Amino acid sequence: MKILGIETSCDDTAAAVVDSNGRVLSNLLSSQEAFHRDFGGIVPEIASRKHAELIGYVILEALTLAHITLQDIDLIAVTNGPGLEGSLLVGVEAGKALSFALERPLIGINHLEGHIYSLFLEGSPLYNAKAYFPLLILIVSGGHTELILMEDHLKYRMIGRTRDDAAGEAIDKFARFLGYGYPGGPVIEKIGQSGNPDFVKFPGLSFKGSPYEFSFSGIKTAGIYYLEGHSDLVSTHLADIAASYEKAIINILIERTLKAASDFNVSGIGVVGGVSANKRLKEMLMAESKIPVYFPQKPYSTDNAAMIALCGSKHYKMGEMDNLLIDVYSRLEIQSAPVKK
Ligand code: KG4
Ligand code: ZN
Repeated sequence: MKILGIETSCDDTAAAVVDSNGRVLSNLLSSQEAFHRDFGGIVPEIASRKHAELIGYVILEALTLAHITLQDIDLIAVTNGPGLEGSLLVGVEAGKALSFALERPLIGINHLEGHIYSLFLEGSPLYNAKAYFPLLILIVSGGHTELILMEDHLKYRMIGRTRDDAAGEAIDKFARFLGYGYPGGPVIEKIGQSGNPDFVKFPGLSFKGSPYEFSFSGIKTAGIYYLEGHSDLVSTHLADIAASYEKAIINILIERTLKAASDFNVSGIGVVGGVSANKRLKEMLMAESKIPVYFPQKPYSTDNAAMIALCGSKHYKMGEMDNLLIDVYSRLEIQSAPVKK
């Protein structure tokens, strides 16, 4: 089976062709970074307009790179939430049009669940592997920080999330304050590479509550106050400050994740979402965890359509399908698939 994946939930216009095992025949992405840079963040109106301009080309190019034609597509999987509604609509309408014209099934995919399936794509240790559940999944992106217990394929239990900002957002705001555009994560990583991560002690978690809940607003504010109050050190020790801030965020992620992994007695930890591209996070978590830790291959850490296609194929195999009435949702929870009758 060949699945066409379409992903337009944020600012990247993406299409991919994947087979039902997770082999990637093509994975294409057109970044809109340059169009949003001057605004210091994503402008929703620009994002949807650019998606509308680019989506046709990106889909056709993904087919060309996979050496197939539209007629060879067996299923269309498209992200329909969570994300920017105007952006999601462009991908969903493209998916609908193709589904109608080609008479192929269409399935709407939750973007966050799609991220989980980045772990099962070709190149990952979990690709076509047999026994690895239950897995603890840490989703860390620009808009979400969640811990999910994955008991089996398509079977999830939400166990904790951030009560305020997402980890990626806290890094993006810090970078923005320093004058860098979106996304800030790769910039802070690069600046902090040579820095001393123990130069500044940023505060860790300070609230009592669920041991699996996160909070990043405190550290975000502390980071910005630090930058405001230490302009002299910012010019002489930027690498050290960036490394310290990054490490403080990673410490919070690791502390909560390892606690949940131990309490739920999982056999492995999977980290997905844009922040999973971070080298320091990977190295520190791998060093501290006693159980296997899985990260997606780098191109599948940040938003992509290959993960959407594979996730779509899993749902389709369970007998699920959408129709042309499919809608988009700015907020959407990960749901377990219904039990197959
Ligand atoms: O999953 P993603 O591509 O888009 C969303 O669904 O949000 O994640 C984007 C987030 C941004 O906050 C970005 O700064 C962060 O992932 N990010 C990183 C790195 N690459 C992307 N954060 C830290 N280190 C990176 N190398
Ligand atoms: Zn994402």
